[in-house]
Amino acid sequence: MMGNEETVQALRAAFITTERPYREGTVEVFEQAIEAGPAPVAEAELAITALGMYEAELDGRKLGEAFLTPGFTYYPYDLHYQVYDVTDALAACATLRVYLGQGWYCGRFTCENETQIWGERPAVSWVLRIRYEDGTERCLTARDADVVAVPSPYDYAGLYDGEVYWARGAAGERPDAPAVFPPVPFEGALPETIEPSTTSVTLHETLEPQQVTERADGTTIVDFGQNMAGIVEIDPALIEGAALTVRHGELLNPDGSLYTANLRTARATIVYHKGEERGTWRPRFTYMGFRYVELSGTPWRPGLVRARALYTDMPRTGTFSCGDERVNRLYENQLWTQRSNYVEVPTDCPQRDERQGYTGDGHAFARTAAYNYDTEAFLEKFLKDVRMSQRDNSEGYVAASVPATGPAGVGFVGMQEWASADTIMPELIYDQFGDRAAFEAQYDSMRAMVDCKLKHAGDAGLWFGVNLGDWLAPGHDIAWAAQHNAPVSCAFMVNDLRIMVRAAELLGHDEDAATYRGHLERAHGAYRAAFLDEDGRLKDFYQGAAVMALALVLDRERDADTWKAVFAQLVDDVRANGMQTGFYATAHLLPVLVEGGEERLAFDVLFSTDCPGWLYQVERGATTIWERWDAIRPDGTVNEERTSDQSSENMVSFNHYAFGSVGEFLYRYVLGIRPLEPGFTSVLIEPHVDARLGHAEGIYRSRVGEIRVAWELAADGALSVEVEVPAPAVVRLPDGTEHEAEPGSHRYAVRL
Ligand code: BGC
Repeated sequence: MMGNEETVQALRAAFITTERPYREGTVEVFEQAIEAGPAPVAEAELAITALGMYEAELDGRKLGEAFLTPGFTYYPYDLHYQVYDVTDALAACATLRVYLGQGWYCGRFTCENETQIWGERPAVSWVLRIRYEDGTERCLTARDADVVAVPSPYDYAGLYDGEVYWARGAAGERPDAPAVFPPVPFEGALPETIEPSTTSVTLHETLEPQQVTERADGTTIVDFGQNMAGIVEIDPALIEGAALTVRHGELLNPDGSLYTANLRTARATIVYHKGEERGTWRPRFTYMGFRYVELSGTPWRPGLVRARALYTDMPRTGTFSCGDERVNRLYENQLWTQRSNYVEVPTDCPQRDERQGYTGDGHAFARTAAYNYDTEAFLEKFLKDVRMSQRDNSEGYVAASVPATGPAGVGFVGMQEWASADTIMPELIYDQFGDRAAFEAQYDSMRAMVDCKLKHAGDAGLWFGVNLGDWLAPGHDIAWAAQHNAPVSCAFMVNDLRIMVRAAELLGHDEDAATYRGHLERAHGAYRAAFLDEDGRLKDFYQGAAVMALALVLDRERDADTWKAVFAQLVDDVRANGMQTGFYATAHLLPVLVEGGEERLAFDVLFSTDCPGWLYQVERGATTIWERWDAIRPDGTVNEERTSDQSSENMVSFNHYAFGSVGEFLYRYVLGIRPLEPGFTSVLIEPHVDARLGHAEGIYRSRVGEIRVAWELAADGALSVEVEVPAPAVVRLPDGTEHEAEPGSHRYAVRL
């Protein structure tokens, strides 16, 4: 009804807040009585946004499907809004009720446990436009004189700690009840751009209790059978006590009680004071990472709680299954870890006092994610957060966590591997979805980030500095990583320069292409000189260094001898020590082994049940991917090691997706589905088979249509492969044959 420009102008003029002295976790509630009738309404639309987090209701019914609205953006420059069609919901007389929480904007957030990061107080703005059948229009806004503040049912609401909610008519004292402050115009700074949101976080899977244990201390432990990010839904009618307390956790202690040490300071608790309200109740301003909940304050009743997964809505595009149930579970685990961490931004984890948009974690898993789901809109929104945040970096650098917490520089630790999300993500979008829009939008940002790295590199051609390297590779602590990281962090820099050249060529920035090609060649030479000996072997060998050199720096043809020399080092070490890779090298380890001709070894690593190893996690009951390979140690204890001597805190999440990047191997190597041209307009099908898998099948719904591969390997070596492609394809089979395939279905039978 209203154009975007008109909506934005109207929203800008209608922000309200209150003069409440800041207290972390308060929720304002505003109401506006709407008399729409008696003339018949043709159309009605509510546009709404907040600096903070809002939920809007019309006559007690939540508007729209989206949660955690208006979303998480770099608020100094950028804010999203939603538009709800309320034509049907708008009765002649209705009440608009808007809950306003602090959210990311000014609530408690980040691992430094800051508050008021982007603003002092929350504010909300809405514009309700009604068009009548006779053509006349009315416009109501948050600034209208009839907007009132009403008592808040929340004593507290925050992302990490949860909510304390008092239902209407609840008995008992409420010493923490916040006073009511009337609405006043918001005079604070408004973001430069206010735009419609392009993604939304919505409810997905419903998980019913799988096991319920009533404990001697009166608490009940509910196991939902699946670690996840989301919320509990409560049926208040089944609460017999005065209040129900729900604590969330990912594990149980050996005695069966809820394990919460890894949540660090996040209380992850819901307290619901029962009153007259009926129907499903769910929290509005938080979500949790959990598999278990502990209920107290009321006896267990079936139906009291269930869990709902909450994540950004994206079309599902990939499936995979094979003849080994453990590998199938691994596939499910990486999928659930994506669901748990694609919540507004690509987060590191959903449970502890962090849940931030880590760029490094984000790009490590991005390719796997882009097979599982169509992630283009999600990633493009995140890349906007990157650009916006970068503007407040004095060196044009990209922060490790985005939206950034405000003005910054590079900092003591370069976090080079993290900053590279700025180049890796747009390239991934181009290759996977065939869309160069991300390159276009990100080009200046990429250039600024890469130029910053070049500035720090100076004459050396590469930036040698303190970085975290192949983060969380086993066996080495953070101090070791800081001193030995360079082969990994510099590999990312070489890769950045390669992508810069590619983007510049693609977008026709010829001068830039030539400039960055020069830098690339210099960096390449510097890499070899710094890290390789005369025999082409890594001087300071460790698996992460070798894998990143092979995957991102050395070219198999151009640098054939050094490639082989480093590969030989890697193979020897993997044979001797098994997999020893961290956040970044893990995605490339199996592909590199296959590319170098060590397919059998790659599958040995996949099937290993030793720690570190994927099936080690699976065999210990993991339902999502762990942050550390040994999050649960072989002796069964949780690894609560501190990251450094300076830190007093553990770092052990059971829902971190970097090691889930093996999903990429399942899609691209086991099924063998890869784009030959960006966007799969021509396709490579090159399955890698192994008798231990028996068979494998799956699909990838590319932008040009569905690609399906199914293979089965019989005990006598007979291999049958079924392929369905929507575009011309090259099919390369394990017997060494290569076939051109037209769009359509094809069957191949070969003997290995
Ligand atoms: C996060 C990581 C992140 C790292 C960077 C951790 O606390 O959980 O996943 O990449 O910090 O410093």
